[in-house]
Amino acid sequence: MITYSKFQKHLQDELADIKSAGLYKNERIIVSPQGAKIKVSSGQEVLNFCANNYLGLSDNKELIEAAKQAMDSRGFGMSSVRFICGTQDLHKELEAAIAKFFGTEDTILYAACFDANGGVFEPLLTDQDAIISDSLNHASIIDGVRLCKAVRYRYANADMADLEKQLKLAQAQRFRIIVTDGVFSMDGNVAPLDKIYELAQKYDAMIMVDESHSAGVVGKTGRGTTELFNLKGQVEIITGTLGKSFGGAIGGFTTGKKEIIDLLRQRSRPYLFSNSIPPAIAGAGIKMFEMMEQSNDLQDKLHANTDYFVEKMEAAGFDIKPTQSSICAVMLYDAKLSQDMATKLLDEGIYVTGFYYPVVPKDLARIRVQISAGHEKEHLDKCITAFTKIGKELGVIK
Ligand SMILES: Cc1ncc(COP(=O)(O)O)c(C=O)c1O
Repeated sequence: MITYSKFQKHLQDELADIKSAGLYKNERIIVSPQGAKIKVSSGQEVLNFCANNYLGLSDNKELIEAAKQAMDSRGFGMSSVRFICGTQDLHKELEAAIAKFFGTEDTILYAACFDANGGVFEPLLTDQDAIISDSLNHASIIDGVRLCKAVRYRYANADMADLEKQLKLAQAQRFRIIVTDGVFSMDGNVAPLDKIYELAQKYDAMIMVDESHSAGVVGKTGRGTTELFNLKGQVEIITGTLGKSFGGAIGGFTTGKKEIIDLLRQRSRPYLFSNSIPPAIAGAGIKMFEMMEQSNDLQDKLHANTDYFVEKMEAAGFDIKPTQSSICAVMLYDAKLSQDMATKLLDEGIYVTGFYYPVVPKDLARIRVQISAGHEKEHLDKCITAFTKIGKELGVIK
């Protein structure tokens, strides 16, 4: 029998290893709502440049009011999965609003996009089929693919020659699906969906795009990569989250072809065996998509903010990875430098995170800055000024 003391020792050793490799994740505690300006537990007020709060809606008054109203009229929790007694009118309304937003046929909600990705492949594909996945796809896609018996192919990030090679190999299978993130979260590049679409046509493949970092952000009206590449309604499956641009609370979805969604409702395990999203989240979600139908002001502001930040940072001498989203990777290359710089920026009131191996490839350490429509010009200027000051101090720029 393994006593806990033996297992405990094993865990302590593992934790010590993580710490000595400098990979232990400490969590900073925020004591205010999420937003452009936040207060941390030390009492310090900082400008937040590392949230996925792309549209600045995390503390939006209209969404908070919609959530309260939904709680008043539909209660706190559902205490059930959808197919037993966990479906309210609000869930159906939200699913329809998401389909309208993306120009798709139907939508199925999940507790998170992690679940949407985890539950999308196994019900649809068998060992006779093929999944061709971008090498930088999100962990939840990787896990979802692992749960499915389909034959797996992997292509180098956004590398169309490699994708074509894999598609040729995948002709051996019955059905093929190309799977890609819409925006890759470490670099901020978009998947070349126009070229992926051409190859899909040529090699008889379907397409799935995870729009978690692109929905709300990419495309003139924020409909994501299918809008950017004029392919609205043309890909079979889109997955996404309510936890980033769309208010940032929680919830995920798969939207796309009617029969696909229908089969997922019958067989997708995270949908069948997990609780419904609460009424407050559904009610606020409906309000959020209503706001998206009414105006593109937030997208316009986000795009202008991102262009401004990149232009000024490049003018200051920083090396920014070409971005087509609101993720700006400030390249530093050195792991320690990325940590030192983030710490010093925090002292200047700028909250950003440094990323290094294994989160990004060796020698490609960086600070990832995420721009929001919630940022005002003065916030951006303060951030650029702080980067410039610390960048000079640490010899990153002249
Ligand atoms: C590309 C991508 N897919 C899925 C997820 C998971 O989304 P959620 O937080 O809704 O589980 C994330 C979040 O980090 C993501 O970046």
